[in-house]
Amino acid sequence: MYSDKVFEHFRNPKNIGEIPDADGAGTVGNPVCGDLMTIMIKVKDDVIADIKFKTFGCAAAIATSSVATELAKGKSIKEALKITRKTVADELGGLPPQKLHCSNLASDALRMAITDYFRKTGQEERITEFGLEKELKALERREKGEQGEVYED
Ligand code: FES
Repeated sequence: MYSDKVFEHFRNPKNIGEIPDADGAGTVGNPVCGDLMTIMIKVKDDVIADIKFKTFGCAAAIATSSVATELAKGKSIKEALKITRKTVADELGGLPPQKLHCSNLASDALRMAITDYFRKTGQEERITEFGLEKELKALERREKGEQGEVYED
């Protein structure tokens, strides 16, 4: 079952909301359950100064959005990109196997938001430097109105 930390973040999620003048945003969906998550970031001096999420999803998706945004806040872009799907799940004390796909959304959305930031601020070379080509493709797919998960597992 869920760890206490999952319950805590589900009951009292951090960083819910939107950033109207966000520097970058990433939206990912889970094609199986139809849930959707958006992460928005504000960047100052290459540090994630603010971060918010909006999640229409299950308890695990909300808890992972909350913990991922907590982990990323105040980190440099480089450090934030080290937050992986595993980091998020581990931080929550693990997740039931059938819920791991929910936790994947948070790190994926974060990476997409950072990719969007690079794209919007003329730092395209950093997309290649950090290996974010898949995230860029996912952003472009979303803009065309196509649904679906960002990454093939
Ligand atoms: S069941 Fe949809 S994100 Fe968890």
